Amino acid sequence: MATAHRRTGPYGTANNDSLGTEPGENGGKGTILALPLTIRPARQEDLPTLEWYGLHTPHREIIAGAFRLQERGDGSMLLADVNGFPAGQICIDFLRKRPSGRATLWALRVFQPFRGLGIGGRLVREAEQVVIQRAVPYAELGVDRDNAGVLPFYERLGYEHCGRERGQFLYHTPEGRLVRVAIDQWLLHKRMAEGAEPATAGADNGRCLRLAGD
Ligand SMILES: CC(C)(COP(=O)(O)OP(=O)(O)OC[C@H]1O[C@@H](n2cnc3c(N)ncnc32)[C@H](O)[C@@H]1OP(=O)(O)O)[C@@H](O)C(=O)NCCC(=O)NCCS
Repeated sequence: MATAHRRTGPYGTANNDSLGTEPGENGGKGTILALPLTIRPARQEDLPTLEWYGLHTPHREIIAGAFRLQERGDGSMLLADVNGFPAGQICIDFLRKRPSGRATLWALRVFQPFRGLGIGGRLVREAEQVVIQRAVPYAELGVDRDNAGVLPFYERLGYEHCGRERGQFLYHTPEGRLVRVAIDQWLLHKRMAEGAEPATAGADNGRCLRLAGD
């Protein structure tokens, strides 16, 4: 089990010096990395990297659409930038449910090796801050009914069940194939009261990834 934890700079920097691989330091069996993390809006040049080495290449059109929404001021696309890599993302759609006073959080995902370190929770809380700044009364999100395992994650962040939504959406792959996706989701929402505590405090305790701003 890793015991060494070498850091350089306030949040730890991921240069070669932070790898801690010298034999004798901990028997060469492993170490704990400290990496800088920043939550920030996506930029045009992030879009190719957001495909995560092909994993989300079929979704290029969806990623580009979310970015356009942000460019128009009708959405937001936040990235968890870990050491220059977009290790997580969350999107907000201010348009879709504007008449009912709701901002839709969607496309929350964290690149597999970075899961369980508090990044997902951090992204949701940052998205909530954006919703609060826009004075939208509710944040709402959908959870696919075949993804029930994620429900406790949202419940811990203060989300409550508020309904169900069914439908479909369409997108084109980069090759031009039309894909039709059926949607069957639980809807969850959270009131964004002004000055409200956006999420559970201390959710990152004990995580080995140091977060910029902590
Ligand atoms: C959901 C997701 C964004 C969480 O990101 P993360 O960085 O791992 O989140 P955090 O570290 O803040 O919190 C992780 C906690 O949520 C739990 N969790 C999240 N998704 C879960 C799932 N599908 N099943 C079981 N537990 C889950 C983890 O077990 C962990 O619990 P713990 O703190 O008790 O160990 C990430 O798991 C992911 O990208 N999943 C695939 C995409 C997805 O399902 N997105 C949500 C769509 S509604």
